[in-house]
Amino acid sequence: MIPREIVPGVFAVGAIDWDRRIFDELISLPDGTTYNSYLVRGSDKTALIDTVDPAKTQDLTGNLDSLGVGSIDYIVASHAEQDHSGSIPAMLERFGEAKVVTNQKCRDFLVDLLHIPEDRVIVIGDGDTLPLGGKTLEFIIAPWVHWPETMLSYLREDRVLFPCDLFGSHYATSSLYVPDEGVIYESAKRYYAEIMMPFRASIKGHLEKLASREIDIIAPSHGPVYDRPAFIMDAYRDWTGDAVKNVVVLPFVSMHGSTQAMVDHLIGALMQRGIPVQPFNLTKADTGDLAKALVDAATVVIGSPTLIFGPHPQVVYAAYLANLLRPKTRYATVIGSYGWGGKTVDTLKDMLGRLKVEFLEPVYVRGYPKEVDFAALDRLADDIQKKHEEAGIIRP
Ligand code: FEO
Repeated sequence: MIPREIVPGVFAVGAIDWDRRIFDELISLPDGTTYNSYLVRGSDKTALIDTVDPAKTQDLTGNLDSLGVGSIDYIVASHAEQDHSGSIPAMLERFGEAKVVTNQKCRDFLVDLLHIPEDRVIVIGDGDTLPLGGKTLEFIIAPWVHWPETMLSYLREDRVLFPCDLFGSHYATSSLYVPDEGVIYESAKRYYAEIMMPFRASIKGHLEKLASREIDIIAPSHGPVYDRPAFIMDAYRDWTGDAVKNVVVLPFVSMHGSTQAMVDHLIGALMQRGIPVQPFNLTKADTGDLAKALVDAATVVIGSPTLIFGPHPQVVYAAYLANLLRPKTRYATVIGSYGWGGKTVDTLKDMLGRLKVEFLEPVYVRGYPKEVDFAALDRLADDIQKKHEEAGIIRP
């Protein structure tokens, strides 16, 4: 990779990770990712905003070398997670005069996670500024995007926002700026779903705080830079807002075809009523795609057979994940089939305890579904249509 100038004196000096396919040993990265780091050169001082994953330290140092950077005064740490902070120790070693600039909580994390010496850290608070000579960084403490210590930096003179993970996308590209808004919308939505969605309320507040600022460029820590900030800010307002879409998400597993027959019937019944449905066969689906679908769907119907006495383990995994991610889903229920008993419906209901949903009447049957069971699925589709209409999600 090569360093790229964003505005005079501000350079992208991070790394592209074309081949990375999993993050946190959990999140799949179909398009790789980038670890963005930015160099801000003032007339008096030089600051580096965040670093890169430790596996890519050499890319960062190579970029700094090619810009002829002989000294760095400040390393701004927006977030202590290692994909951004992991190269700070190497930078402190290379630039002996450099100090880490961060907030108190982030300082504590850096000391614990990376053993950064406390005397190399300058602690700042919300609204504090760092003058570099003709360029001034202002810090905005913004907890829970997506750790408790996160903060943003705003370069006043050039109106560039450095929001770290916020507004990011796991998308490896050689383009400095968003190459295609349609493509990056999907990537950023997936990223939001997997990482930011549990903190929707906090992020909403941060968006309101940013609304009064003039921002020409958003330079996040993953994915391309936004030269049209309204694109990603509008998308975030939509995702974090309370409105849901007339969509049913249907994650399911079927072992011997009974639950599959119910899923197929319900899909048809919803289609007849003009309700878009997104099924996810959990034995084949990518959980990132499922998470993305959960961002704004009004209803979730979980399809699970009973294995021994409870839900299929693949369904348990998906329900556990959905409960962690806390989508703004309004309605939920369970459909499926059992052989000799069990507590699948109650177990799944309990597992979704963090979601503020209204549970609709489940359709849970013994063996292969009969006519009466298919009729119950039709009634469920009616119920979903009615609920969506009453909530104004479908205009009747
Ligand atoms: Fe990209 Fe939360 O680290």
